[in-house]
Amino acid sequence: MKIIHIVGARPNFMKLSPVYRALEQKKVEQIIIHTGQHYSANMSDIFFQELSIPKADINLGVGAGSQAEQVAKMMISLENEISLQKPDLVIVYGDVNSTLAASLVCAKLQIKIAHVESGLRSFDRTMPEEINRIVTDRLSDIFFTTSVEADDNLKKEGVDKNKIFFVGNVMIDTLVQFIQKPLQQNFSTPEKYAVVTLHRPANVDDLSQLQKIADSLFDISSELPIFFPVHPRTQLKLNEIIKNAKKEKNITLLDPLGYIEFINLVKGSAAVITDSGGIQEETTYLNIPCLTLRENTERPITITEGSNTLIGYDFSYLKKCIYDILSGKYKKSSCPKFWDGHAADRIAEVLMKINFS
Ligand code: UD1
Repeated sequence: MKIIHIVGARPNFMKLSPVYRALEQKKVEQIIIHTGQHYSANMSDIFFQELSIPKADINLGVGAGSQAEQVAKMMISLENEISLQKPDLVIVYGDVNSTLAASLVCAKLQIKIAHVESGLRSFDRTMPEEINRIVTDRLSDIFFTTSVEADDNLKKEGVDKNKIFFVGNVMIDTLVQFIQKPLQQNFSTPEKYAVVTLHRPANVDDLSQLQKIADSLFDISSELPIFFPVHPRTQLKLNEIIKNAKKEKNITLLDPLGYIEFINLVKGSAAVITDSGGIQEETTYLNIPCLTLRENTERPITITEGSNTLIGYDFSYLKKCIYDILSGKYKKSSCPKFWDGHAADRIAEVLMKINFS
């Protein structure tokens, strides 16, 4: 059996790592295609090195662009490469533009698609990721899910239940494997601190919205120092805000961190404030309070079972939650089913039983 994995953006790499390894144990022929959506060393290469992923066999070098431009460029190159490779199956991950481009190309080439992290829905089509999720799931043949809610979403959309496999969360496989790895942290942290990450266009592309969030963070940082690894999308505007800030602030801005350094920063923190999807899951596993600066989440299990709270843009609620956390009143969380480090093994078992001829 010949499988192609298609990845492109930072959150794809933590998902690829355990699946690649599980299939390697089954002696499957595997090819990695990197679209080049993320290209900086600290957004891409470091994850391949740290997570022991072999260098991509093919890098399409697509880089940044508008939504349509990026997806179109990926599609043209992917069509060429996939036609040459003739795989039995293509595996796509998550909800980024690389996932969408790969699904469209494979569906038209009539190559089977397995979608890892299928069925998540925020029901908010203003987010490009929601469109990517919906289209990818319309076109996929095999659906690997992280939660029962995702299975339900797929069934409601008419997916045959025999094609849905609730295997658990491959991102947690990576967390379980690498959280114990020793690291050399390049900066020191106080006993109590919060971690902040922001990169959603709705939060960071508009200067006035980012300013509101920054004002709230300045306020919180007087109680709880903040460590903030800054995504490239956020960098320019945030620099302007920080430069113009009058108040003395206790916010340490960092370049994007590698995986090991980042998860250790989170593990040692009192709270995380984020708009990321994956971090809502990682904090749930680690039982670290997560305050999400979004109106909705495609990962509701991180709220019902986990440590996540949706804040929206109610900054007084954000502050209240921080007080609850510091005074020990924040909710206790539990770990969702199959977020146990073995999701990729389950994926490999499922794929071994499918006849692709
Ligand atoms: C993408 C994904 C998002 C995911 C995020 C994780 C889509 C629609 N969005 O958003 O779901 O949560 O990745 O990081 O696929 N840039 C660099 N170096 C890089 C990558 C990007 O400098 O290695 C800069 C570029 O200027 C680019 C901007 O960051 O314009 C945004 O990159 P892009 O891939 O378009 O979207 P993300 O915001 O990273």
